[in-house]
Amino acid sequence: MKKKILITRKYPEAGISLLREQGFDLTLWEKDRPMTPMELADLAKDHQALVCTLTDRIDRDFLGKCPHLDIISQFAVGYDNIDIASATRLRIPVGYTPGAMTEATADIAFGLMIAVARKMFFMHKTIISGQWGYFNPTGHLGMELTGKTLGIFGLGRIGFSLARRCKAAYGMKILYHNRTRNAEAEQALGAGFVDFNDLLAQSDILSVHCALTPETRQIFNQAAFKKMKPSAIFINTARGPVHHEGDLIEALREGRIRGAGLDVTDPEPMRPDNPLLSMENACVLPHVGSATMEARTQMSVLAAMNIIEFYRTGKVPHIVNPEVLNP
Ligand code: DGY
Repeated sequence: MKKKILITRKYPEAGISLLREQGFDLTLWEKDRPMTPMELADLAKDHQALVCTLTDRIDRDFLGKCPHLDIISQFAVGYDNIDIASATRLRIPVGYTPGAMTEATADIAFGLMIAVARKMFFMHKTIISGQWGYFNPTGHLGMELTGKTLGIFGLGRIGFSLARRCKAAYGMKILYHNRTRNAEAEQALGAGFVDFNDLLAQSDILSVHCALTPETRQIFNQAAFKKMKPSAIFINTARGPVHHEGDLIEALREGRIRGAGLDVTDPEPMRPDNPLLSMENACVLPHVGSATMEARTQMSVLAAMNIIEFYRTGKVPHIVNPEVLNP
């Protein structure tokens, strides 16, 4: 019998075609919004596999209703929307799509860094509001990036790509803090491993690239912002809950740090009246780090291949919980 796969959003056609060519029976959710938890559970009950993404709550409750799933294939590198422990207990393999969005997300972090340093979003808004007056020799001055120190919190693929750009473009010194040392970054980029407090104290630009875990949730809070340089720029393209939004707003208002560039917020979507959106020293984007044709196409292919290979060979090429397949 044909395996039935539930596809929770309109994903790029490349991956959907691969699944179709393999003869799977696909159910495509065509609405321009994520399913509610009830819609998701009701539909998934009748399917063997799921292609989902970060806006789908694959929590204990959902998994309790759908323990029959053969495989869950996440269209993203982050999988904090999935209760991995419960999936593993139920012996459901969880696939994901690492690598596909590395360059796209590093570009967004790099772009936000420059945009914050030069107050680009705010300056754009002054034109729209009719405030472009005469050339002003002392107005809204920014900061140059040459020779500055970039601190990376969570140096993996995306952090490495950002560090490569910053070193090549601005000769930046690279510092990082990780759970484990990154020998490649130390060798190729001269990156220096420091503890968290030193990362906070020494970075001119501090960019977050970690996963959201209980340890990293709101790790960038008032105490952390207080330890940063008043001239520092904070960038988060990873997950919104890694920073405490209220504490960040306070740090920006009180000049504890120079500015912030966010591609991720908590909650998402951010409300249009959020104070960050009107601040001179903040630039916010709506979680578009991986939003390039190249990245999203590749993500859809990897998500499809995780399912295809699972049913063909019993192996999932990119798997979060390999212990399910190799007990
Ligand atoms: C991810 O992959 O985790 C991004 O946040 C969305 O592409």
